[in-house]
Amino acid sequence: MNVTIPASTHGAARRPPNKLPRPNDPCWCGTSEKYKKCHKEADQVFLKEERKRLEANKVVPGEVTPKREVPIMIRRPDYAETGVPSRGSGRNVRTPEELVRMRRACRAAAEVLRKSGEQVKPGVTTDSIDAYSHDLIVSLGGYPSPLNYRGFPKSICSSVNEVICHGIPDGRVLLDGDIVNLDITVFLDGMHGDCNATFLVGDSVDDESRALVRVTHECLMKGIEAVRPGRPISDIGRAIELHADAHGYGVVRSYCGHGIGDVFHSNLQIPHYFDARSNTRMEPGMTFTIEPMITLGTWEESHWNDDWTVVTKDLRRTAQFEHTVLVTETGVEILTRE
Ligand code: MF3
Ligand code: CO
Ligand code: CO
Repeated sequence: MNVTIPASTHGAARRPPNKLPRPNDPCWCGTSEKYKKCHKEADQVFLKEERKRLEANKVVPGEVTPKREVPIMIRRPDYAETGVPSRGSGRNVRTPEELVRMRRACRAAAEVLRKSGEQVKPGVTTDSIDAYSHDLIVSLGGYPSPLNYRGFPKSICSSVNEVICHGIPDGRVLLDGDIVNLDITVFLDGMHGDCNATFLVGDSVDDESRALVRVTHECLMKGIEAVRPGRPISDIGRAIELHADAHGYGVVRSYCGHGIGDVFHSNLQIPHYFDARSNTRMEPGMTFTIEPMITLGTWEESHWNDDWTVVTKDLRRTAQFEHTVLVTETGVEILTRE
């Protein structure tokens, strides 16, 4: 005789929602019981166990190899020696001539991102991916923009699992089941092109992380679809936040998209959440990045003591995708494409 177990979630070890009910509110599980009489205790146990598991498996810093050299013939950005970027022209609208050069830098960045992504597999260190990307950028005649930007020690950013952004490539080996973001910026023909993507390491990435990566990419595309001349910048973050919210995910607030061109980061900021103060109107010829960082849990961050690495405060996973885009007369063009 077959015994069917009822499909009730009550008592099952299911992850509680990010926003817990108050003690006297109805439980999140759908019964009419008060939360304190239903899942409250089980949730506390679950969250404590989860925190223990995340602490035990958190990403730890590895060894950072010496700064890689860039051949003397390659044109460098102004900060390459000093670490301090100049403010650039301050314009956010590019001339047609600048756009020709911008397209070349962006296409190169897209190629390097795709090929570097093909290097991602279990057993590979992020340092070896950095070496691969560095050599490829240089072979295309470009300078890897992160190198010595405000003192950043490596040529790309590699951000694993709970690392939100600005991870420094190091001797840590990628493990089957990790997710890793590679952020590639190329300085070519006097212009920067900036893009990133999150890759799955091996075949055993859990479903929760797969969904996060898929929805984060959707967030980027929804942000891009909101780009339109005459509309305020805040439309972009509104579209992204709406989609992240619908999945119960967080949107990182401290790091934004940015104007880009002759400088890596201009004054123009592109928040990935709705901010009514972002009332600058988009204009044809503007170039900026959209690069949402989306979290499974809290959007709050903490920092490693290496001056760079940003991680989620709750150590749950986070993903990111980035494109450099151009505002056109009718809408938008993605520049970081091959
Ligand atoms: N590429 C990153 C961005 O999308 C910036 C990296 S700055 C670095 O804006 F110094 F960490 F490289
Ligand atoms: Co960027
Ligand atoms: Co970037």
